[in-house]
Amino acid sequence: MSGTGRPRVPALEQVPADVVSLPDYAAHARARLDDNAWAYLAGGAADEITLRANRAAWDHLALVPRVLRRLAGGHTRVQLLGRTLAHPLLLAPVAYQRLAHPDGELASAHAAAAQGAGFILSAQASVLMEDVARAVLSDADRGPLWFQLYMQHDRGFTRELVQRAEASGYEAIVLTVDAPSHGVRDRERRAGLKLPADVSAVNLAALPKAPRTQLTPSQSWVFDALMPDAPTWDEIDTLRSHTRLPLLLKGVMHPEDAREAVRQRVDGLIVSNHGGRTLDTAAPTAWVLPRIADAVGDALPLLVDGGIQRGTDVLKALALGARAVLIGRPYMHALATCGAIGVAHVLRVLRDELEVAMALCGCANPAEATRELFFDVP
Ligand code: FNR
Ligand code: LAC
Repeated sequence: MSGTGRPRVPALEQVPADVVSLPDYAAHARARLDDNAWAYLAGGAADEITLRANRAAWDHLALVPRVLRRLAGGHTRVQLLGRTLAHPLLLAPVAYQRLAHPDGELASAHAAAAQGAGFILSAQASVLMEDVARAVLSDADRGPLWFQLYMQHDRGFTRELVQRAEASGYEAIVLTVDAPSHGVRDRERRAGLKLPADVSAVNLAALPKAPRTQLTPSQSWVFDALMPDAPTWDEIDTLRSHTRLPLLLKGVMHPEDAREAVRQRVDGLIVSNHGGRTLDTAAPTAWVLPRIADAVGDALPLLVDGGIQRGTDVLKALALGARAVLIGRPYMHALATCGAIGVAHVLRVLRDELEVAMALCGCANPAEATRELFFDVP
């Protein structure tokens, strides 16, 4: 091992011996990342009240176990947008994954495919969407591959982005609607967040520069520069007309918005507060989910994210009306710790924990998870 420099083939990355659950990855990720990357990946908006509340809300839902039921032959399969999935787990769209690991989104997509989990590529991914699709599309046991869209100021470019996603094999478009403005990211500003030169939103490289808005002193940056480019309900139909793919909205929290989405024939909703990164003090998703489920009934599938890191969290989400769940930070922590192996491990552990939780609550399949698992839904 002397004097030969770095090995050309890096040693296979390993899951650290003391990691047995998703939360165990956070300390390893923190140790491997610089302050800059950590502030971006782990942080939330402002006082990070929603970031903490998301977690706390799952914790505070108390399960009431059931016993002596017949569970042999049970399973975690769910139906989603016309497909049968082996289990209800997806990787949430997370931007700039090469901040966490040199393989970035490619590693996460490979891991998701190997575990039969869904993968949602961020519009701000640091790897080309075509490369990600090519890497996993031929895997027969993979989960769904979706593209997350931010409406860009240039609507023509936005349309091309959607059509590129469709042409390269993505199976749904997820329009994120909860971030027409960035949240107040105090942690990022304290860290002086800067992307390294070799990490960028490569799929947006050809986006024409926004014309500089000259604001008068009486005008507002938010209302006169950002909001004129923000998407509105009356653009949903146009967006649908640009693609044959199903359209989901991510970041819906109010039952009235959920009803509007049903009226607009949207194909699915992701109940999300962006992991506490947009509006701080926004309600936790575990609290919002059953209210949205009551508002829309079976009209369209609901997914949820925010603070999910245990099999019991997943079971609670299913019981409150979600068809499937997304995880964000836990897989970024695993990616930073040991690349694709870590992300695959996270998915396997969460699925195993879900099966244990189902068995101990007397659920032989996801449909048997109902509100009867709780005495009170807060
Ligand atoms: C995100 N999220 C996000 N969402 C989105 O629609 N597009 C994006 O590009 C990103 N980027 C992003 C970066 C980072 C570092 C994080 C942590 C999150 C939000 C993400 O999809 C998801 O809603 C939350 O991460 C879910 O919460 P947990 O699991 O992180 O608690
Ligand atoms: C974020 C954006 C990219 O949460 O959605 O950082």
